[in-house]
Amino acid sequence: MHGKKMLIVGGSSGIGLRLAMDAAAGGADVTITSRDEGTAATRAAAAGALVRAARADLGDEESIRALAEWVGELDYLVSMAADHANGAVTGLDREEVTRAFDAKVIGPILLAKHFAKRLRPDGAILLFSGVAAHRPAPGLAVMATINGAAEYLAQALAVELAPLRVNALSPGIVDSGSWDAMGKDKDRFFAETAARNPARRIGQPADIAAAALLALTNPFLTGTTLHVDGGGRLA
Ligand SMILES: NC(=O)c1ccc[n+]([C@@H]2O[C@H](COP(=O)([O-])OP(=O)(O)OC[C@H]3O[C@@H](n4cnc5c(N)ncnc54)[C@H](OP(=O)(O)O)[C@@H]3O)[C@@H](O)[C@H]2O)c1
Repeated sequence: MHGKKMLIVGGSSGIGLRLAMDAAAGGADVTITSRDEGTAATRAAAAGALVRAARADLGDEESIRALAEWVGELDYLVSMAADHANGAVTGLDREEVTRAFDAKVIGPILLAKHFAKRLRPDGAILLFSGVAAHRPAPGLAVMATINGAAEYLAQALAVELAPLRVNALSPGIVDSGSWDAMGKDKDRFFAETAARNPARRIGQPADIAAAALLALTNPFLTGTTLHVDGGGRLA
């Protein structure tokens, strides 16, 4: 990581923030983004002196273009953002579905458009998928679809942008903070999930950050999806 420049889009919380801290501890120059400038600045300050902040909204191409211009040359680009449109397909709201596609599919396509020429040839892009693509459940149709699309996008970009490497990482259920809204139900959900997972545990942000660093730095890894899900897609 020493001397490498990394951008984590949607890295203002959970897994992204942990990756930012671990990469910065290894000597990387890291920038995290949020849709809110103040949030990005606060979270970057909490992550340490080496982490910088910027604003970007993957639903707004102008913000992506401006971010690319501000960042300049880059070694590693991570698209961590996720927006959710969960619920029965019969009740889905079109705007929410569009925002979910912006965060995981259209936004990453626009990131590739604006950053491809700025990424160094031995650099890498990492997109984020998720176990819902491989273990669909009622109410998760949009999540399953956008995660699957992110994996196919990584394959397509790996071919088109070669020798730049492009991969996807598919986490299982991770205690990243994004489940905290479940309140008391979170503990029961985590216990049930851990009992079913072959790894018999819930993932931690550090587990995913370690795998992300591997995907970004292994020079022979491209066009693939790393499943870091405790085997959850098989259970
Ligand atoms: N946690 C899990 O159990 C789990 C499971 C499977 C997959 N994953 C995937 O792993 C990744 C990280 O998960 P996480 O739980 O740490 O984070 P998360 O809470 O799912 O989301 C990450 C961040 O994305 C940003 N974001 C949302 N819409 C955006 C947009 N239009 N443009 C730019 N940024 C946007 C938000 O930051 P701001 O509000 O600050 O803009 C949000 O904090 C996600 O892609 C998630 O789907 C997580």
